[in-house]
Amino acid sequence: MIAIIDLGSQYVHLIARRVSEIGVPVVVYPPDVSLCDREIRGIILSGGPGDVNRVKIEGNFLRSGIPVLGICLGMQYIVKYFGGTVDAGKREYGSTEIRIVNHSRILKGIEKKFKVWMSHQYEVKSLPERFRVVASSEDTEVAAFEGGDIFGLQFHPEVFHTEYGKEILRNFVVDICGEEEKAFSASSFVKSKTGEIREKVRNSKVIAGVSGGVDSSVMALLLKKAVGEKFLPVFVDTGLLRRGEEDEVKKNLSAYLSIKFINAGENFLSVLKGVSDPEEKRKRIGRKFIEVFKRVDEDVEFLAQGTLYPDRIESLPQIGQSRTIKTHHNVGGLPEDMPFKLVEPLKELFKDEVRMVGRELGLSESVLSRHPFPGPGLAVRIIGEVTREKLGILREADHIFVNGLVDMGLYDDIWQAFCVLLPVKSVGVMGDERTYEYVLVMRAVTSTDGMTASTYRFGWDDLTRLGDRIVREVRGVNRVVYDITSKPPATIEWE
Ligand code: XMP
Repeated sequence: MIAIIDLGSQYVHLIARRVSEIGVPVVVYPPDVSLCDREIRGIILSGGPGDVNRVKIEGNFLRSGIPVLGICLGMQYIVKYFGGTVDAGKREYGSTEIRIVNHSRILKGIEKKFKVWMSHQYEVKSLPERFRVVASSEDTEVAAFEGGDIFGLQFHPEVFHTEYGKEILRNFVVDICGEEEKAFSASSFVKSKTGEIREKVRNSKVIAGVSGGVDSSVMALLLKKAVGEKFLPVFVDTGLLRRGEEDEVKKNLSAYLSIKFINAGENFLSVLKGVSDPEEKRKRIGRKFIEVFKRVDEDVEFLAQGTLYPDRIESLPQIGQSRTIKTHHNVGGLPEDMPFKLVEPLKELFKDEVRMVGRELGLSESVLSRHPFPGPGLAVRIIGEVTREKLGILREADHIFVNGLVDMGLYDDIWQAFCVLLPVKSVGVMGDERTYEYVLVMRAVTSTDGMTASTYRFGWDDLTRLGDRIVREVRGVNRVVYDITSKPPATIEWE
């Protein structure tokens, strides 16, 4: 296993993604955890904001003989730990050319000059004797160093814009740490995961909410394969769903699973009354889900969820220092006093891998190609208080938007498309009458794993045709806007 120590970098999840793409297990730790007693083949110190003098790590592992790679702030920490100096220097941001100046293991097999992504304002002023410089840029002498099994990179090998970034990380993980490179295999994943699930739950019952989305469908099929009739899949109509959701689930999943359908719309709406804070909404929805599950069967011991790796990165502060962005989890925010133990068989996977597993389990392409839909449903797409009236408006608009994309043949080019209803009204004129109605946002993004996303570039005619239809057909909306923000800096959902 490779351990990443999270020093607060916004890219920490990308390092993890790159390592897991090589097929090697990876865990992200906060800086105050002692790593010496764990089975670790290599340690990566991430970058992070700020000044190296403020970094506090249990640094003993640097003398343990385990290979260590420091990236940006992590690299500066290594220099300081061994007595070198780091100080304010020439700032480098963005694409920068570096050149290899010495033979090295970490940069093996790479062109002499290549472009890397830099983002730093401090630099190494004096390098401890045990290390030697292996690459420099015009402004920074120590762009990369190595000595023994310790390596430092001032640039970010994990970001897409760094040429040979994958090769550099592979050099570290495979050649230096001795891990085995493995392409992801859906069939061996299914085999080993079903065994693991059986061992974990033994004879207990496992419940799970299935929404008809890719993650929960794949998770449910895996559970069914692992524990058979002891798995209780439940579809909860929260009243926060899109139009026709229950029918879709019946059509797509009843061939594989015997799902219990529960109508709990009133319950969910009542706990959301008067609530407009996004995290509070998520938490109340999460709590309600648990109450509903508890009522299904008193003997249930486990709750299975289709949580993926990116959900955990973005929701759990304990995974490192990167901040909680949203309390994801598939059903919303889970309560602290959870009456169930969790089974999350997909938690190491990214969406593209989940789709491969779904295919392996025989799930139809129509389910696998569905856009993601969040567990808390339309509640996080209605900014401010959720009311029945707003749900009705959003449902109609969303239906027109998404079906329009299907009709135009654009649905499969887009990772996720949906509408958001704002708590803002604006003045309009329709049929010579003044109107004063809601503003609605159309959002469509492309992505590979939901962790970063780009705005989908519609043809102007397509976009205006969709917007015009919504304003014409949905009562309560007189203005439509298109969200052009990527992730980061925004997130995909608005809440
Ligand atoms: P954000 O908005 O964080 O979303 O950029 C990334 C992806 O995750 C989905 N999402 C959720 N999925 N439960 C889920 O099952 C949730 O609470 C949740 N919140 C966001 C979102 O739709 C996007 O695909």
